[in-house]
Amino acid sequence: MQSQLYGKDFITTEDWTLEELESALELAADLKRQWITGTYHDHLLRAKTLYMLFFEESTRTRNSFEAGMTQLGGHAHWLTPKATQIGHGESAKDTAIVLARYGHGIAVRDCRTGIGQKYMYELAKWANIPVFSMQDDVDHPCQTMADIMTIREKFGTNLRGRKFVISWTYAPQYVRPLSVPQGLIMLMPRFGMDVTLAHPKGFEMMPHTLEAARRHAEEAGVKFEIVDDMDEAVRGADIVYAKSWGPIMVTEDEAEVKAMVDQHKDWCLDERRMALAKKHAIYMHCMPIDRGYEATDAVIDGPQSVIYDEAENRLHIQKALMVLTMAPRG
Ligand code: CP
Repeated sequence: MQSQLYGKDFITTEDWTLEELESALELAADLKRQWITGTYHDHLLRAKTLYMLFFEESTRTRNSFEAGMTQLGGHAHWLTPKATQIGHGESAKDTAIVLARYGHGIAVRDCRTGIGQKYMYELAKWANIPVFSMQDDVDHPCQTMADIMTIREKFGTNLRGRKFVISWTYAPQYVRPLSVPQGLIMLMPRFGMDVTLAHPKGFEMMPHTLEAARRHAEEAGVKFEIVDDMDEAVRGADIVYAKSWGPIMVTEDEAEVKAMVDQHKDWCLDERRMALAKKHAIYMHCMPIDRGYEATDAVIDGPQSVIYDEAENRLHIQKALMVLTMAPRG
């Protein structure tokens, strides 16, 4: 277990070694056990402050980080561009240096394509406290770490030979970023799973994330494939992660997105499709879900669904990440 993570940023899982990621998962499991048994651990980040800067909305991320800081004995501030001088154009440098004079960590959600992750690295360049991504245009590392924690709870730590599928689905609402599928294809091969990415033409990932997924798969000796058929993807799967994302590599224009998305209304995870997976397969989704579009209620609320475990594990993994990076060793 790595003990030297104090001060380290967590902007993408790509910046952490497998051993460092394992350390976070081990600590998250310990903190979860303590949570289950009602054991307080509010000395771990006592009197420490986390700044949570949201450029977009959130239910899980905001509340799991905020509750997590309370449980660890600290406090989290909820910030938006409008509630700060960021909305008036204050630079990342000035924001980072000033917040670092007051507190102990800065967490940011900024999914603006081509901007979000760059903004976080700019903050991290100037802040002498850790910067966390709470989702950006490239990765959603807290989500994918909660996902691998959930998968290990269901299948154990030896995941070799398991088929992990991340499939695009139809959804009529807003344009969702690429960060979750990109984060998943980059992370899951490192934990020894064969990964299948499924989507219709036009819904591709950013090229550098595909390169990372291929490289990790080769290093781990596992498969990484891309298919354009949802049935083919789900067949024989152990884990079916089915969610919508926008055709961001092609367009973010609302009318064009709608026209592209509307061509694939049949990409919905229903009971027939879920039955193509292995009997013991689990259904995953990071939430929020567009019920009846991305998946049917029968799947979402069915016995194979682990979506609420995933959502809960956001709390435990983020607490672990904060303790590892924000608590100086005694
Ligand atoms: N999964 C997730 O990040 O949820 P929120 O958008 O509600 O934070």
